Amino acid sequence: MRVAMIGTGYVGLVSGTCFADFGHIVTCIDKDASKIDALNKGEIPIYEPGLQELVAKNVAEERLFFSTDAEEAVKGADAVFIAVGTPTRRGDGHADLTYVYAAAEEIATLIDGFTVVVTKSTVPVGTGDEVEAIIRKTRPDADFAVVSNPEFLREGAAIEDFKRPDRVVVGTDSGKAVDVMRELYRPLYLNETPILVTKRRTSELIKYAANAFLAVKITFINEIADLCEKVGGNVQEVSRGIGLDNRIGSKFLHAGPGYGGSCFPKDTLALSKIAADAESGLKIVDSVIEVNAARKKKMADKVIDFMGGDVDGKTIALLGLAFKPNTDDMREAPSIDIVQKLQAAGAKIRAFDPASMEEAAKLMQDVMFCDGPYHAIEGADAIVIVTEWDQFRALDLERVKSLVKTPKVADLRNIYTPVYMAEAGFDYTSVGRSY
Ligand code: UDX
Repeated sequence: MRVAMIGTGYVGLVSGTCFADFGHIVTCIDKDASKIDALNKGEIPIYEPGLQELVAKNVAEERLFFSTDAEEAVKGADAVFIAVGTPTRRGDGHADLTYVYAAAEEIATLIDGFTVVVTKSTVPVGTGDEVEAIIRKTRPDADFAVVSNPEFLREGAAIEDFKRPDRVVVGTDSGKAVDVMRELYRPLYLNETPILVTKRRTSELIKYAANAFLAVKITFINEIADLCEKVGGNVQEVSRGIGLDNRIGSKFLHAGPGYGGSCFPKDTLALSKIAADAESGLKIVDSVIEVNAARKKKMADKVIDFMGGDVDGKTIALLGLAFKPNTDDMREAPSIDIVQKLQAAGAKIRAFDPASMEEAAKLMQDVMFCDGPYHAIEGADAIVIVTEWDQFRALDLERVKSLVKTPKVADLRNIYTPVYMAEAGFDYTSVGRSY
């Protein structure tokens, strides 16, 4: 099949590359000429394990192309994916659909023969109808169907998630379009991945409901963690104890400093707005948004308390800045609020992250970015573990002790245990573990 991918951001690039690796002929299109030039030279604009190799392989085998020109790619395509950004609109929290509608207008002028237009971007319920209306208005004669096909890719594991998904959701009334989508995802179908065919509006809602539910799970366990600290419990044991119940499931029950990233904060907010507009309030989602935002700041208070209530003039070393490991993404990362609040209380910040320091430098002032974990902790009054990168899980603790001013560790990701750290001679605090 021939595929045109409009928008070569995170989702478009990963999806386009994986479709090419399935054997389809894919052209990824972007208005940003410097991005396309870089991709044509083999330079990948994002940090995603395995992506560079997969792009190189499919370019070499002449299945994957990059271009600023949509015309040729869309004209011959069986499926045109819209994978442009849907950021939070300034002022009202709704998803900004400017780029989606601009893509629909461009596609409308170019489609030729039966074409499936697929919205991959996360879009509010009813956007597919609007995309269809835009194309129909420009080209009343065109033979096309608009399908919703949301992505469920985690940064850092996106290729694995694309190639071995729990399910594929296809939202459309058109049987002809379903056939094209089944052909596109055929390698998965052969692996017995469920392909759920629904109406378009339901498919659009599935994406928001999935992300909001995961955000609820995380926020729930974070509040249980706080309760554990007050009543003498251990949140990791609570997670295991409840997660073994199949109805609950063990995933997404790690307590920490609050969720961040490009999806959960944006999508929970957009879902809340959709629900409010439909006069069908989602109080649970509204609370999750509020509790999570407060939690990031609360983590700075936790560190300040741990340091005796005063951090003025103290040096604090942060290990990890990205919103999670294996990404350079700093969007909505808890480290941003933590650094701001600690600095406002007078602390000096040293920091190390294996991938995100360049991004972090755009968002944080007066932070000393260091060459490695041991460099970051030199002379520190306390270490704060903010992101659970693997390389922080087995630090040489004797070396750590010899480098810091005082051996204090606030572990916001629970990657060490209280007993182990006490034996190693550290004053240690973590999240939701009284023992
Ligand atoms: C998420 C969804 O998982 C994905 O399906 C969707 O398409 C996009 O949004 P991503 O943002 O890449 O993916 O990150 P994810 O791994 O889901 O983590 C999100 C945030 O939740 C991170 O800040 C992470 O640290 C936090 N988290 C996750 C927890 O605090 N505890 C957990 O148990 C799981």
